[in-house]
Order: sequence, then C-alpha cells, then structure tokens
Amino acid sequence: MSHSPTSILVTGGAGFIGSNFLLRVVPHYPDVAFVNLDLLTYAGNLLNLKAIEDAENYTFVRGDIADGGLVNRLYDERRFSTVVHFAAESHVDRSIMDPLAFVRTNVVGTATLLDAARKTWMNDGSFGDVRFYHVSTDEVFGELDDTGEFSESTPYDPHSPYSASKAGSDHLVRAYHDTYGLPIVISNCSNNYGPFQFPEKLVPLMIVKAAAGEPLPVYGKGANVRDWLHVEDHVDAIDLILRNGRDGGTYCVGGRAEMKNLAVVETICDLVDEALEREVGTARKQIAFVADRPGHDFRYAIDPSKLESELGWRQAHTFEQGMRETVQWYLSNREWLDAVMDGSYREYLAEQYG
Ligand code: NAD
Ligand code: DAU
Repeated sequence: MSHSPTSILVTGGAGFIGSNFLLRVVPHYPDVAFVNLDLLTYAGNLLNLKAIEDAENYTFVRGDIADGGLVNRLYDERRFSTVVHFAAESHVDRSIMDPLAFVRTNVVGTATLLDAARKTWMNDGSFGDVRFYHVSTDEVFGELDDTGEFSESTPYDPHSPYSASKAGSDHLVRAYHDTYGLPIVISNCSNNYGPFQFPEKLVPLMIVKAAAGEPLPVYGKGANVRDWLHVEDHVDAIDLILRNGRDGGTYCVGGRAEMKNLAVVETICDLVDEALEREVGTARKQIAFVADRPGHDFRYAIDPSKLESELGWRQAHTFEQGMRETVQWYLSNREWLDAVMDGSYREYLAEQYG
C-alpha cells in the first residue's frame, strides 16, 4: 500500500540525519511542502541546511516536539499528510549523564506528536492517506554476542537510557496503530556516518582529533562491534519506506558492515594521514584506551533482507569508499567544522531566529 505525501512535518531536521534527509527531498519533491520543527538543541545546526533554506517548499519552525500547544497548532494550520519523526536526544553517553532529558524528548515528545496526529487526522473514525514515520534505532534490540543478527522479529531488550527511551517511543507508535488504527511505519537502523554529524559521535570525533594530533579515546579495548551505514543510504531507505512501506510495518536498515571499534578508528587514522600527506601510522600512535562506557552493548548487527526483498532497497556506498569520502568531507569543510568546534554555529541560528 503506497503513501503519497503532500505536506510533511519533519521533526529534528536540523540534526545529522534529518538535515541529510531534507537536503535530499526538498529539491527532489518541489510539489511537497516541508515544515522542519526543531528545538535547535546543541545537536541542531541550521548551517547544515543552507542549501535549502530559501526553497519555496521549505519552512523552519523553532520549537519543542513536547510542546502540545505548538504541535497541535501546527497540525491544525498546516494540514500535514505526513510526519517524519527524527527529533530525539540521540547520544548514549549523554543519556547516562542526564536520562530524564531523553525520557522527555524521546517518550513525551513522541507521544505529543502521535496524539496530535490522532486528533487531527481521524475523521469519522477513519484515516485517509496519512502516515506517521518513526525513525528508530537498532539499539532497542539490546546486544548480541559473537553470532546472530537483529531482524524485525527480535524482541526488544534496551540497556541504556537512550535505547530504553527509543524503545518506549517505538511502543507508543505501535500502540497508536493497534489501538486507533493510526497509519504508521517504523525503521530501526544501525550506526550512521557521513556529512554533518555532530563531533561527539565516534566517526567525526576521531577524524577531528586525528587531524589535530590529539589523543583518540577508545572505550575499553575497542572490541565492541557496530554495523555502519552511510547516512545517504539511510535517507534513501527512509524515502522508500515512507512511500512504499506497508502500513504498520517495521523495517530493519543496516549496512552489512560490521566492524570492531578499534578497526574503525584505525581506518580513520590511516585515511586522515593519507589526506594530510603524513606518514601512514602517525595517527594510530594517538589511540588511547580509556574507561569503558557503563552498560556498553557488545555487538549490533542488522539483517536488512526484508527491506531489500520487499522494497528493493540497496545501499550505494561500501564502508571503504563511504568512509574515505566522509574523512575528506570533514577535512575540506573547515568552515562548518570550525563553527561547530568553536560554538559559533549557535550565533548563526541566533542571527536567524533570535
Ligand atoms: P541528532 O542528535 O544529530 O539530531 C537530533 C535533532 O533533534 C537536533 O536537530 C535537535 O535539535 C532536535 N531535537 C532534540 N530535541 C528536540 C525537541 N524536544 N524538539 C524538537 N527538536 C528536538 O540525531 P541524529 O543522529 O540525526 O538521529 C536522528 C534520529 O535517528 C533519532 O531519532 C535517532 O534515534 C535515530 N537514529 C540515529 C542513528 C545514528 O547513527 N545517528 C541511527 C539510527 C537511528
Ligand atoms: O546503533 C544506532 C545508534 O548508533 C544510534 O541510535 C545512536 O543515536 C548513535 O549515537 C549510535 O550509537 P552508538 O553509541 O553506537 O554511537 P557512538 O558514536 O557514540 O559510539 C560508537 C561506538 O564507539 C560505541 O561502541 C562506543 C564507542 N566510542 C564512542 C565514542 C564517542 C568510543 O570508543 N570512544 C568514543 O569517544
């Protein structure tokens, strides 16, 4: 059953994946109106969206997804056909320091968006061609040992406040489908890398520190395993699932690119050395093993075969090529990186939105 969006509320569109999504879809679908609702926390960066900020089919609204008054007003005024919900507190380490911020945004915020959708979209007990797309994570499934992969039927078993709050939001989305018939889809994706990621996450952090000659903090022994997917392949999957996914369906998205953290860091080190024309091996000497993350999930791996067989999705980037391009992107977008590192990206948003 396909869905044809006419007016889309994108939440969290100034973050890493949300901005990559908007940069792709706003020019690609000129007849669709996009509203980007983003609170602009530390993770929201309007510099990411410069290429589309003046597009006629794009509007930015600064606001909180947990603000019921604002959310209900936007649904009433804009008559969205579609919600693509990225907004979240997304960093596991921050969730260990401040779990309630994660419960508020990820659980209460999602519930606020769902309830506004239910109220606005239900007409005489039924829904038309509307859809609530919830962007979620593989972390809701917990951790794996050396074997096996997560799939759509894996039971939920989250361990961190981040993954528990995402699991809570997934359950709410499913509950609104099962209870009210709200048309929904959910995708659960593995670790993304690529342009515009805030340099607190492993990949951009290591690129920045390797280039600067600083210590590279690897948690524990670097033996934990993650599956890596280029953000543009995730964005492609989201667009495909949004339009062609089954109502009530859940889809696992992953890159079939499992790696130990230490191997990821070593790859980045060598690519940075190459790009900066230094002797290869220089950056590896900066690797520093530090205390492990509490409750650190050992291994994630995703089986994306449902998405491949049902919707024909294929990733376009190999890990090797995608990571090479990503290292190049961070090293050649100095203006963006400097603004993030010195905090002046906040001034840009203050100039634009007070
Ligand atoms: P991010 O942290 O880069 O961006 C989050 C965005 O949400 C920011 O722009 C921030 O300002 C906004 N935001 C935060 N709280 C808000 C609130 N209360 N109201 C409105 N906006 C708010 O996150 P990301 O890495 O782009 O992740 C986007 C989504 O994808 C998240 O739901 C995350 O759980 C999921 N996800 C991420 C990955 C990954 O590897 N990054 C993988 C799978 C799934
Ligand atoms: O799996 C999907 C998830 O991937 C998303 O849902 C999250 O939003 C996203 O942040 C990411 O979570 P991780 O915790 O896997 O990503 P992070 O980049 O924080 O860490 C990746 C791995 O690297 C993890 O095993 C911890 C380790 N690490 C991380 C940092 C920041 C280090 O060894 N050193 C570091 O400094």
